[in-house]
Formats: sequence, C-alpha cells, structure tokens
Amino acid sequence: MIVCLCNRVSDRDIRKAVQVHAIRDFEVLKDQTRVASCCGCCHDCAREVFDEACAQAAAASAADNASAAA
Ligand code: FES
Repeated sequence: MIVCLCNRVSDRDIRKAVQVHAIRDFEVLKDQTRVASCCGCCHDCAREVFDEACAQAAAASAADNASAAA
C-alpha cells in the first residue's frame, strides 16, 4: 500500500527501514524515505505504520534475547 503519494513511499518501505536499516526515529525515517516531507497528508498514517513496525521489531528483539539467554 502506498502511504505517501507525493514521494511514493509504501508501508513496505517504512517496515524495511525499521527492520533492515534499524531506523527508530521518525525524523530519520523522513530524511531517509522523504515520507511526509511534502504536503504532509500522510503523516498520521506513516507514523502509525512506523510505530507498529518499531513495536514488532522490539518484540522480535526481546524474543531473540530471551531465547539466547535460555
Ligand atoms: S502524501 Fe506524503 S507528503 Fe504528501
């Protein structure tokens, strides 16, 4: 799904930025992908996808740490 029409940024682009590039700051995401950097209409949706991806990454990291400690 395209989240940002102005810059053609998809939800997959945002999730990839979090999972592969370890971006955890929305301002950095904006710099890297240009999401929400034009008209701003996509800001809330982009933020929602970003927060969800960060939460999933944190949960995955916690699960990895728990299995490594076991
Ligand atoms: S739709 Fe994302 S900045 Fe315009």
